[in-house]
Amino acid sequence: MSQIELDQGLADELAEAIGAEHVLVDPDLRAGFEHDLTGRFDGQALLVARPATSDEVSRVVRLCGKRGVPIAVQGGNTGMVGGAIPRPGEVVLSLVRLDDLGPVDTLAQQVECGAGVTLERVQERAREAGLDFPVDFAARGSATIGGLIATNAGGSLAARYGMTRAWVAGLEAVLADGSIMRRLRGLLKDNAGYDLTGLLVGSEGTLGIVTRARLRLTPLLPARAVGLFAFASIEDAFALLDALRARAPSFQAADYLHREGMELVCTHRGFPQPFRELHDTYVVVECAGQDDPTDELGEAAALAEDAILDSAIATDADGRRALWAYRESHNESLSSRGVPHKMDVTVPLASVPSFERDVRSEVVAALPDAEVFLYGHLGDGNVHVNVLGPPPDDRTVDDLVLRIVAHYGGSISAEHGVGVAKARWLSLTRDDAEIAMMRAIKRALDPQSLLNPGRILV
Ligand code: MLT
Ligand code: ZN
Repeated sequence: MSQIELDQGLADELAEAIGAEHVLVDPDLRAGFEHDLTGRFDGQALLVARPATSDEVSRVVRLCGKRGVPIAVQGGNTGMVGGAIPRPGEVVLSLVRLDDLGPVDTLAQQVECGAGVTLERVQERAREAGLDFPVDFAARGSATIGGLIATNAGGSLAARYGMTRAWVAGLEAVLADGSIMRRLRGLLKDNAGYDLTGLLVGSEGTLGIVTRARLRLTPLLPARAVGLFAFASIEDAFALLDALRARAPSFQAADYLHREGMELVCTHRGFPQPFRELHDTYVVVECAGQDDPTDELGEAAALAEDAILDSAIATDADGRRALWAYRESHNESLSSRGVPHKMDVTVPLASVPSFERDVRSEVVAALPDAEVFLYGHLGDGNVHVNVLGPPPDDRTVDDLVLRIVAHYGGSISAEHGVGVAKARWLSLTRDDAEIAMMRAIKRALDPQSLLNPGRILV
């Protein structure tokens, strides 16, 4: 049987299972599912299947499994490590139609939703009930809950609230044999056997396809203050971090950027420079409370005043958004300039300044025309290393940066996952026993390697 006939046979069976209009074979219809936000990853899918329910996801998995056709699982397609982009011969299984969002259970402080619901919709639903879902990042309007769970997304609030894992009370997943694993009771105390929910969180679609989730919520802190602070160096910015931790219980985010990022964003977005002079380092701080936290933010800033070169504080929604935009516009501004090599890494917080110095000097020594942009989440040592210049498929800069990460005792993936982008470097920061355990789990749950093959483990 030729490849074309085989594909048509699969397409026909899928059409019968989920409806012909939800099986996209036409290249124009597939196109939006075949390349990613960063512009670095693309690939041709056999077809795109868009099931609407967990049962339909199960049917798609069984039909693909019967023919040994691997599956690329995709949510909002905002990933940065190529994990959701099809490799040749893969079917894209898009979860965006699993978009039902339940009512908030205010007593349990939980909400249940389909994998295709966006982060923003969950946040809005929670806030209507006086609660909040405290994982947040710039792609909130498109990123889906299934993707957040698959990658254990972090974001700006992680230093205070932890990562997505901490907010998943239970989930439902379709396994590689098409069976459906349901653990949606949302019990806080539930030690009956292995933590299967925890295992699936962060497994990047390689062990099961998350189709539903029960999410924990936290009381909404409606009063907010955001400050933008300028420093001569990232070391100096640590003074403000220390002061916030000591004096501002309302402190919930401290994201940083550097001079080159500020210039890039202002040019791309047409923003005014925030201060009369350009500075080496900027930190966007957010405090949130039941009552206006501006005084707390001000007291912390006063403690660090020797280090602060300039500052602006906003309490109204537009002003807060405008200050955050200097940081949150980095990703799109970089993409407007080219295809960046994006390396989302963590190093111990104290090592961030020397890590950044090494990255800048070693990248420029190896690739004199490369441009380095560093920004990230100050509270947790999460640095987003972005390099413009090297061709998308050149691995020199990735190799160089990830080896520096290993040297500092960091992790090659902080919050974006390993995907296909970093799979070859996994052994830099995971030892042989850890990788053997990961392979054993993958083999046990997906012996045919149907689900997101080549992601995390090569
Ligand atoms: C961010 O913090 O802005 C996101 O993780 C995306 C990025 O790395 O640009
Ligand atoms: Zn980030």
